[in-house]
Amino acid sequence: MESSIKDLIKRAAEDLANSKYAVAFTGAGISTESGIPDFRGPSGIWTRDPEAERRSYEIFGKFLRNPKEYWEEALRSPFFSILEQAKPNPAHYALAELEEMGIIKAVITQNIDALHQKAGSKNVLEFHGGITKLRCIYCGCRFPREDFSKEIEEKRIPMCKECGSPLKMDVVYFTEPIPRDVYELSFEEAMKCDLMLVCGTSAVVYPAAELPRVAKRRGAKVIEVNFEETPLTHEMISDYLIEGKVGEILPKIVEEVKKLRERQ
Ligand code: APR
Ligand code: ZN
Repeated sequence: MESSIKDLIKRAAEDLANSKYAVAFTGAGISTESGIPDFRGPSGIWTRDPEAERRSYEIFGKFLRNPKEYWEEALRSPFFSILEQAKPNPAHYALAELEEMGIIKAVITQNIDALHQKAGSKNVLEFHGGITKLRCIYCGCRFPREDFSKEIEEKRIPMCKECGSPLKMDVVYFTEPIPRDVYELSFEEAMKCDLMLVCGTSAVVYPAAELPRVAKRRGAKVIEVNFEETPLTHEMISDYLIEGKVGEILPKIVEEVKKLRERQ
């Protein structure tokens, strides 16, 4: 690993060790080493099939018009079973360890794969929802998906236990509003943090991509770990970019933080 990356890893470890309230902000790039393709990276789902991205804009409207058809399609999609079988990779474990060490106070993720939780992260905000729950867009209630396995098996539409409306996956689709609770909590964390560790996101989807910008405006240090430069790099929102694989870089940062703590 060339010295500049090594120096940046040491610098990130010092910044994290000196931070009072660090928050991680992650995207699909943190899960590619778990076998889940990202969207816009070199071999991303949208990169390989732009038509698939266009189709994904229609899913929320389909749920509103015809929840039965939405459920038939959702259950047919192989995507959810790939997510359910995936395992956390060293990048997820590294962030969980930094939370354990009292450094990372929250992980705000755009991912729906629940791999941060599987890796042991406790305070995870799923900005785009997740596959483990169903959500009612009418009253906002969420329920564990397994509460409705019978309906799902019998191809009946799961109905909200609170208000009786049709439920959908707790996944936020394009054109669907971000649920108010996770929206507010995530922006609170972005405003509170003095360091944001941005891992594996192209930072082009709003309002999620606003989070590092809010952190920066409030004076936080923003550190990017990514394969490639992003608008956060170009607009100098990030203080520095550590270019490479999150699964290699994040565990090295944790190692350096431990060395700093031993010397204290
Ligand atoms: N290590 C470091 N960076 C990586 C790795 C890796 N192992 N794998 C991929 N990347 C980088 C890619 O180069 C890209 O810059 O991570 C970024 C992933 O960007 P996207 O695929 O756009 O994913 P994300 O930013 O999470 O997308 C945001 O868009 O499609 C919607 O709702 C979906 O939550 C998603 C949102
Ligand atoms: Zn309801």
